[in-house]
Amino acid sequence: MALAALSLALPALPALSAHGQSPYVAQSAQKQNFPWMNKSLSPDERADLVLKQMTIDEKLDLVHGTGWGALRPGDPIPAGDNFGAGYVEGIPRLGIPGINMADSAVGVRLGAIQSRYSTLLPSTLGAASSFDPQSGFLYGDVIGRELRDQGFNMSIGGGVDLTREPRDGRNFEYAGEDPVLAGTIVGNEEKGVQSNQILGDIKHYAMNDQETGRNILNAVISPRAMQETDLLAFQIGIHIADPAGVMCSYNKVNGDWACENKYLLSDVLKKQWGFKGFVLSDWGATHSTLKAALAGLDNEEPGDQYFGAPLKTAVQSGTVPQSRLDDMVHRILRSMFAVGVIDNPPSPRRVVDPFRGRDDAEHIAEESIVLLRNQDHVLPLDTGVQSIALIGSHADVGVLSGGGSAQVDSPGGDAVTHESGSARWMVPVYFPSSPLKNIQAHAPGAKLSFNEGTDTAAAAELARNSQFAIVFVNQYMHEGSDAATLSLPNNQDALVDAVAAANPHTIVVIESGGPVTMPWIDKVAGVVEAWYPGIGGAQALADLLFGKLNFSGHLPITFPKNDEQLPQPKIAGIDLQPTRAEIMAARAHKTMPEMRPFDVDYKNGMLFGYHWYEAQHLQPLFPFGYGLSYTTFDFSGLTADQHSVSFTIRNGGDREGTEVAQVYVELPQSAGEPFKRLVAFERVGLKPGESKQVSLDINPMFMSIYDTDQTKFRLEPGEYKVFVGGSSEDTPLTSTFQVAHE
Ligand code: BGC
Repeated sequence: MALAALSLALPALPALSAHGQSPYVAQSAQKQNFPWMNKSLSPDERADLVLKQMTIDEKLDLVHGTGWGALRPGDPIPAGDNFGAGYVEGIPRLGIPGINMADSAVGVRLGAIQSRYSTLLPSTLGAASSFDPQSGFLYGDVIGRELRDQGFNMSIGGGVDLTREPRDGRNFEYAGEDPVLAGTIVGNEEKGVQSNQILGDIKHYAMNDQETGRNILNAVISPRAMQETDLLAFQIGIHIADPAGVMCSYNKVNGDWACENKYLLSDVLKKQWGFKGFVLSDWGATHSTLKAALAGLDNEEPGDQYFGAPLKTAVQSGTVPQSRLDDMVHRILRSMFAVGVIDNPPSPRRVVDPFRGRDDAEHIAEESIVLLRNQDHVLPLDTGVQSIALIGSHADVGVLSGGGSAQVDSPGGDAVTHESGSARWMVPVYFPSSPLKNIQAHAPGAKLSFNEGTDTAAAAELARNSQFAIVFVNQYMHEGSDAATLSLPNNQDALVDAVAAANPHTIVVIESGGPVTMPWIDKVAGVVEAWYPGIGGAQALADLLFGKLNFSGHLPITFPKNDEQLPQPKIAGIDLQPTRAEIMAARAHKTMPEMRPFDVDYKNGMLFGYHWYEAQHLQPLFPFGYGLSYTTFDFSGLTADQHSVSFTIRNGGDREGTEVAQVYVELPQSAGEPFKRLVAFERVGLKPGESKQVSLDINPMFMSIYDTDQTKFRLEPGEYKVFVGGSSEDTPLTSTFQVAHE
């Protein structure tokens, strides 16, 4: 009776009351009496208590979203919807809030619609360049904090798909090509999100490693290769974060859609890894009721096509067991209790602190920008410099951001066009972080001149008459398509060539979603990879260029010399798919361009990224793990066994600096894996002349092979080689250890 009375006390509320209060804040006051609000019970016990009270319709409400705004034309928008990417209706009579999901890969999306501010962080790939789990945590902490302040209770960021395809349009949302690095950074990011009592997520599970044909492609790969690479990244991330959600991807894997793939969802994620949260589909990635439900999908997004009425029928007729529906609901509820969104719902009345967010973003950018070339110590620039030509990429006013569902809205509108409101799909957005102003701040006496870079001759002329030339080049990337090549678009290679020919002190700053080729590399004095550096990016960049700070970022991804060096010189399926122009034209006519299914055959298995270059004896442009500093580091004194390594690093230069010490292991020959694997890393800060001893544990999992017969990871007996140094190619210390038969 008490429950019924409560349900009556909670009429449908508007999205925000006159006081800006969300409905689930109001509900929370009343739920104290419910037995499941007893915090001394475990999240599982609390979820079960709620479950017992629920009707089948209430259960069904929790296992699907409420559509793109509304489920069906004419339906009202649910009262609790906070206008993010998705909303799952709560159960007001039981005090269970709805789930307000917001895209938040590099900051909270869709802020401008409601005049909200969100911090643009450096790209996730940039954060991975820090090799710093704490920066990863801070990254997620900013996102979680701002989601909470904006009234969302779930992040649907957390991309950890590995870079098998360096031209992938979403690489900037992911954390590079190595499973240990990517899993560690993204796991800490989601831990940071959840530290704000906001539901976290890891996506896109799995093998969503290119955008070309993502809704129709079938990734073909052996279980062993998948377990030791892409799945390992997910496994590490999930182990670290214990996220509420895992989002299954659009593509097929070995013949089955990812969101109805029993191997991925049940056998691996839930059984092998013991994942206790819920699997939600990517938006429109559910393809069936029965198969998806039985394979392990727990929540359809964004609508109810398969998990609404059809699931009810299936449960009532027994084709989907009641226990499976209960398991879906249990997983959702237990995650909400475990993370704290029921005990401590967010309040959208709070205002995001933009200064705190900006400072955090700047800190992450400082660690993520990578110095790739520094001939004759052209950098750091002297504050007494007389004149600098700044060229290209709107470096007078802003920094570029990545597009798609990761797009954050720029505060005050786009820095270049001043267009305000929500960013448009596939249209580049510049954020107001001005390289020109920040460079000028370091050299107030210098004459700084800006040239757009569209007129190559004029840019070269300006460079000729300046002491230094800094050319900003960019590659705009976004969800939904890949770059056809790694070459810089829009004639920018010719621009760099012309400027470098005019001025020997030319420094190139790259803002890109991933690796790009540099046919001009030998002609320029300096190269800096800034990724998409975020709202504090220009300040971090200027501090690094002038040596106020030292570079410490290292590449989480190999930079090839050219597309021909890649395992797949051409993107799989690219010739079969409509071009960007065709997609735009079709959209204008409200039609869909034709898509033809195809296989992406990852027959190279584990051979991609640095594994590929090593196994093929190819010399890339810049190897995985590479990054220069204004000082030098000496490695010495390696001792290693199966469990740990110990070595000394000394700062041999005259500036303070931070080295990313990297430990790689090559397995015994019998494993058939002729390449190194990253097994441990640590940032080590050192004063000039200072030495530190570094001891790192090796997680046995990171050097195990997946035994398909025994369906488990195990160590191959034999001799293991250990390599320690500052990049995958520069490993001055080597040793070996033996692993005995089990
Ligand atoms: C993307 C997801 C995103 C979802 C909701 C999909 O197209 O692949 O990453 O979270 O849309 O916006």
